[in-house]
Amino acid sequence: MKVMTVLKNRFVSHSPVMLTHLITSLCNARCKTCDLWKKSSEYRTDLSKEDVFKLLEKAKKAGMVSYTVWGGEPLLRKDLPEILQFAKKKGFITTVITNGFFLKERCEEITPFTDLMIVSIDSNDSLHDKMRGVEGILKRAIDGIEKCKKTKTKVIMNSVISKLNLDKIEGLLELSKKLNVPIAFEPMDINPGYNEHLKTTNKELKTAFSRIIRYKKSGYKVINSIQYLQNFSKQKKYVCHAPKCYIAVSAHGKIESCVGTNSKCWGNIKETSFEEIFNSLDFKDFCKKMEMCNKCNVSCVIESSLMYSLNPWVIIDKIKNLY
Ligand SMILES: C[S@@+](CC[C@H](N)C(=O)[O-])C[C@H]1O[C@@H](n2cnc3c(N)ncnc32)[C@H](O)[C@@H]1O
Ligand code: SF4
Ligand code: SF4
Repeated sequence: MKVMTVLKNRFVSHSPVMLTHLITSLCNARCKTCDLWKKSSEYRTDLSKEDVFKLLEKAKKAGMVSYTVWGGEPLLRKDLPEILQFAKKKGFITTVITNGFFLKERCEEITPFTDLMIVSIDSNDSLHDKMRGVEGILKRAIDGIEKCKKTKTKVIMNSVISKLNLDKIEGLLELSKKLNVPIAFEPMDINPGYNEHLKTTNKELKTAFSRIIRYKKSGYKVINSIQYLQNFSKQKKYVCHAPKCYIAVSAHGKIESCVGTNSKCWGNIKETSFEEIFNSLDFKDFCKKMEMCNKCNVSCVIESSLMYSLNPWVIIDKIKNLY
């Protein structure tokens, strides 16, 4: 059924099937690469549980099949299990992206309704705690991973590469091997006025991602496709299909394509429906125009674009990695 929906969206309607939701703007960490924790007072009111249920109803009606929660730190939301359970009942594939601090204590409540748990780890040693501004967070994230691994939820690690951790790639790969949990890498995105000084040069990125490719080819469980990694090792260009693949909803309900500094807002979920947006000429024109854009480096944008382009190597790689 989900496959049919995805195919219909890909070949007929060209509207997004993936919903990402910034479920809370609150965060317990103070990361050096991410300024979201600083912005929580700007957003203040997250969508209520009832509003999230309505959001999920609307997403289902518009033919979406996956629901990813992030933040802020999603595990700070007490009602997260209820929300994920509701999403599962509606038939969504559910993903949680977390810094892992509360993972061990909340694992039992959350994993029954979570298909994929992405745990962010940027270094395998004390640098991780320093980068996240939270003492003990690496140990807690690892303990959480160990506990989640015993459930049916698939667990992966995600590492953001900046100037701070260029020399931690091997350590991260060893940690992934030791935990027997696949790992994904992506270059740090710029948060203007916050982390520019941590951006790697193209040369550093090229060297780092060439190394990651070698490790992947030698058998390390790197989730990224070779084609994604080559965007940095060979500085390739891609055609962006991300706005046709997924749509983001912010903490207080703004519906956005291209999150971050490049975002385009289509309205608020409390006042409009996804179908209205996806069927509009404005949306279709925007998606077409954005095919020429190459601004983003994050894996969700590039990998989804490569999948949408029906790149056979990427599709095979994804199937192999996830099953
Ligand atoms: C914004 S966080 C939200 C979820 C949760 N708080 C966490 O840290 O996993 C989502 C993902 O973005 C990553 N991230 C942080 N700063 C980033 C940046 N500047 N560029 C790209 N990804 C970044 C995080 O490591 C995490 O994997
Ligand atoms: S990366 Fe995650 S944990 Fe770190 S500040 Fe951003 S939202 Fe918080
Ligand atoms: S590359 Fe451009 S079009 Fe694609 S998601 Fe990023 S900002 Fe949007």
